[in-house]
Amino acid sequence: MSGAVLTGSFFMTGLGAYYLLAKNHLDYGRIFVTLGVIVGLIASVIQLYPSGDLEGRQVADYQPSKLAAMEGLFSTEQGAGIVIIGQPDTANNRLDNPIIVPKVLSFLTYQHWNAKVKGINAFPPDQRPDSIDLLYYSYHIMVGLGTFFIAITGLAFLLLWRKLLFQTRWMLWVLMLATPFPFIANTAGWFTTELGRQPWVVFGLMHTAQGSSTTLSSGNVLFTLIGFAGMYLLLGLLYVVLVVFEALRGPKTEEETTQETEEIAPQGA
Ligand code: HEM
Repeated sequence: MSGAVLTGSFFMTGLGAYYLLAKNHLDYGRIFVTLGVIVGLIASVIQLYPSGDLEGRQVADYQPSKLAAMEGLFSTEQGAGIVIIGQPDTANNRLDNPIIVPKVLSFLTYQHWNAKVKGINAFPPDQRPDSIDLLYYSYHIMVGLGTFFIAITGLAFLLLWRKLLFQTRWMLWVLMLATPFPFIANTAGWFTTELGRQPWVVFGLMHTAQGSSTTLSSGNVLFTLIGFAGMYLLLGLLYVVLVVFEALRGPKTEEETTQETEEIAPQGA
């Protein structure tokens, strides 16, 4: 839920920043940026703690192979470190060029610096997520963006507090250009959840391959999938076009609103 609030607040901030940069609808721009930055900062912090922290712990308890893959931990380790960057090499079961902060993963997961965290190699090959690379990168993109959101909303809040934000054009540019990033973070979050639960449809009990229908042909499934994808593509494009159109047109002026009200309920009627 905080991901949705975060997305809404970044959208509002981005639009407000655009109005301020374009020197258009300045009153609305100031309100949008103020509200968006405050709510965005609160939602970004909640996304990390307690939301992200709780999600991580329940993954450790119920889906340990997902945790190992998303963290890029190949061997079981006591006092496991957290990977900041690195590229998983699944052919050789190792992480290339890693930058790791020692012991932090053990602490975040089990509140003990030397706790043992199971690595991917501890699971039989048919019980490991099939797309370890994509899962690892999705998770790191989500958390990386989450950290970036805290940094920019924190800095923007500081400037707002010092009454400098509306004149600081580079920060307004950053806020405007950041508008699409929460959409990417949400998508990366869902990638993490869904790729990580593979190859299970019921974790640890039933493989995804065993969950497929015996009465439905693959052609039927493909046809329905293409239909849904086409429908969502159309709706998505329509959404983008309408939002851009409305944003460029901007809010109605006072005269326009008064004129509209009078048209609906003429004075003296
Ligand atoms: C800041 C650090 C963050 C941490 C530590 C974190 C942690 C996690 C974890 C562990 C999962 C997997 C949950 C599961 O598989 O059951 C997850 C999923 C997800 N995350 Fe994040 N996340 C963070 C930031 C974000 C941000 C910034 C967004 C979006 C704006 C986001 C949106 C999502 C979504 C949509 C899911 C999938 C839905 C779900 O499983 O609840 N996350 N996150």
